[in-house]
Amino acid sequence: MDTPGAGQLLRHLTLRQLQVFEAIARHRSCTRAAEELYLTQPTMSAQAKNLTEAVGLPLFEQIGKKIHITAAGEVLYTLCQEIFESLARCEMGVANLKGLKQGQLRLAVVTTAKYFVPRVLGVFCQRYPGIAVTLKVTNRERVLARLLDNRDDLYVFGQPPPEVEVNAVPFLRNPLVVIAARDHPLAGKRGIPLTRLAQEPFLVREAGSGTRSALERFCEEHGVNLAIRMDLGSNEAIKQGVAGGLGLAVLSLHTLAMEGRDSPLAVLDVEDFPIERHWNLVYPKGKQPSVVAQAFHEFMLNEGRSLAEAAVTVHKSPRRPPSHRRTAKS
Ligand code: PGA
Repeated sequence: MDTPGAGQLLRHLTLRQLQVFEAIARHRSCTRAAEELYLTQPTMSAQAKNLTEAVGLPLFEQIGKKIHITAAGEVLYTLCQEIFESLARCEMGVANLKGLKQGQLRLAVVTTAKYFVPRVLGVFCQRYPGIAVTLKVTNRERVLARLLDNRDDLYVFGQPPPEVEVNAVPFLRNPLVVIAARDHPLAGKRGIPLTRLAQEPFLVREAGSGTRSALERFCEEHGVNLAIRMDLGSNEAIKQGVAGGLGLAVLSLHTLAMEGRDSPLAVLDVEDFPIERHWNLVYPKGKQPSVVAQAFHEFMLNEGRSLAEAAVTVHKSPRRPPSHRRTAKS
């Protein structure tokens, strides 16, 4: 009689036989295995017999009503688990590929994240052209409401919402800085005391904005009272107001990313600033992210992180006072 080898197993063994064997070994019962697989007892017995012949050693021993697995059966059982695990992985991989060919990605991000999320999405969509993306940009309060309604796949927050249990991964720095018009008397001064800010009018974001609540928390912690001149519903409106001399503001450094050498804005060097924060990629605990959402999550934490960094790299010139302004020739 031939000693069975891989060649013999390959020729005679089928996945169906392994499936039957694995179920019998797991349940230690032919009846329950047959029920699980929706097979009749004679079919089960025939499959088990063929498998035993292919292996060349008994796989089970029946003592009374109890089924015991032999040493050869144990080896085969381990093999079955490995094979089925690999098949499951393969199936998931194929499903992922199919999913990524055409899927939907719904993102909701807080207003200030618009300075880098679209840039990351651009590269992601080039890589996966079949994915349709919807991007909702609104303030923190409204993004939180969307998360509570489970309306999107992933969210970007300046700070993970404590109101609800979430999975949150910080992926990028988000410093909040004090900005002023470039010709403001404080522009270019070093180490401006925090208390000096109380003498200046401030433009702040609307209620419900994460930037605003971070500033309010900071002021409370540091005992500072800011004179609020007006609140405005967008970072860009605030920048225009600051450039026009309406007052100072505290905004994410990222809002200055597209400011060129001739920016009318300056970042002030104020004690205890910047307020250090991080962008977080968030989804509610218990939510099973789609294949596409998982792919974007991974993309953001790997390549997206550096794309985002590049998108928000701020030109040094907004920090310089007017006297350092470059001339056309320099
Ligand atoms: P906002 O949020 O755009 O609503 O101000 C930004 C943040 O939380 O950092």
